Amino acid sequence: MSLQGKHILLGISGSIAAYKSATLTRLLIKKGAEVQIVITQAGKEFITPVTLSALSGRPVISQFFASDDGTWHSHVDLGLWADAMIVAPATASTIGKMANGIADNMLVTTYLSMKAAVFVAPAMDLDMYKHISTQRNIERLKSDGVRIIDPTEGELASHLEGKGRMEEPENIVAILEQFFASGNDLEKKKIMITAGPTYERIDPVRFIGNFSSGKMGFALAEESASRGAEVTLITGPTALSTSHPNIVRVDVESAIEMHAAALKIFPLMDVAILSAAVADYRPEQVADEKIKRSGKENLTLSLVSNPDIAASLGEIKKPEQLTIGFALETSNEEINAIKKIENKHFDYIVLNSLNDQGAGFAHDTNKVTILSRDGKKRSFPLKSKREVAKDIIDTALKPSTIDNEWLYL
Ligand code: PMT
Repeated sequence: MSLQGKHILLGISGSIAAYKSATLTRLLIKKGAEVQIVITQAGKEFITPVTLSALSGRPVISQFFASDDGTWHSHVDLGLWADAMIVAPATASTIGKMANGIADNMLVTTYLSMKAAVFVAPAMDLDMYKHISTQRNIERLKSDGVRIIDPTEGELASHLEGKGRMEEPENIVAILEQFFASGNDLEKKKIMITAGPTYERIDPVRFIGNFSSGKMGFALAEESASRGAEVTLITGPTALSTSHPNIVRVDVESAIEMHAAALKIFPLMDVAILSAAVADYRPEQVADEKIKRSGKENLTLSLVSNPDIAASLGEIKKPEQLTIGFALETSNEEINAIKKIENKHFDYIVLNSLNDQGAGFAHDTNKVTILSRDGKKRSFPLKSKREVAKDIIDTALKPSTIDNEWLYL
């Protein structure tokens, strides 16, 4: 594998592990990459820009302006230039700033302008790494799609033993090579994803809805798009936004609208992933005017059933098309999920249970078991929804990569 011609933006923050950045730069260059280094003020206390620019063959950037001639360094241009950004070492402070969008230096400002994949290799003392604040920021970065290269265990600068050592440069290079080798593995795949809740109108001011935030579906869309797929994301009402150029977003409100959009789009697709929490029922009548209390103690709504989007797609599905459903369960989880595979003609179903802490609606995390039509299953621990999205895509679309990881039911 090689990194021939790849543009790598290397961000260096202020950790003793910054000495490893010199080796990392040298290895990246040896593999054929072009390396542009952005360093924080604190980073310069640990390694000199002279060393780094000699190794990378480019001036090292740390300020918005070059102090000698006033040249403006454009973080936007750097964001467009890079094929990948790697922050190594990433201190607790830099991780915190990245997670919270605090763009008070060139490194974090550049991160906020990045269009390509971002990798972060933390390096810090074990207690700082374990701290709830650091872990929260790392989780937030993961759910933003940043790939964290876990630190290793060993002797730290404090002479304490524990987890916090930056991963070795050779392994970081291998991770980048792996990424570029499989980076576009979904190129040309057309994937339709449903996300979010549906709102079923009662009158002009009220609706029946559910607690879906859309996070699971949006994570699936971002993961698929970042791997080169052409994604159509049909979403119910949500506060989330999408920016990836490979994602076409279709906003709908009700189950009937989502059903119509899905039926129109699905025949052009290779894959459909149905993560939306679609209301099974809607009010039979939608009042034209706001329903008034007018002294009534009870109000009875008559509900009629909504179309089942998954079942409708199952009926028109061609043999070469793949459908992946979700099952949100509260009891008899696996039995109910298996029934849904059959009733809705899914190839795979992703089971998440409201009995698992951190799983299901609105969390940034989820805990899933993936069941296949041919009676196999894979169970995963609690992960960020972006990582769950990767597990789902790898399981259903890259089955050869996980052949020996199935359990037979
Ligand atoms: O959006 P988040 O806050 O991130 O939460 C994610 C989630 C919990 C909504 C998601 O992970 C999930 O479980 N989505 C499916 C929820 C659901 O409606 O499950 P279900 O068991 O009722 O439906 C089974 C399958 O049929 C689902 O794929 C669903 O999209 C589909 N369905 C259901 C009803 C219907 N009328 N049409 C459908 O297509």
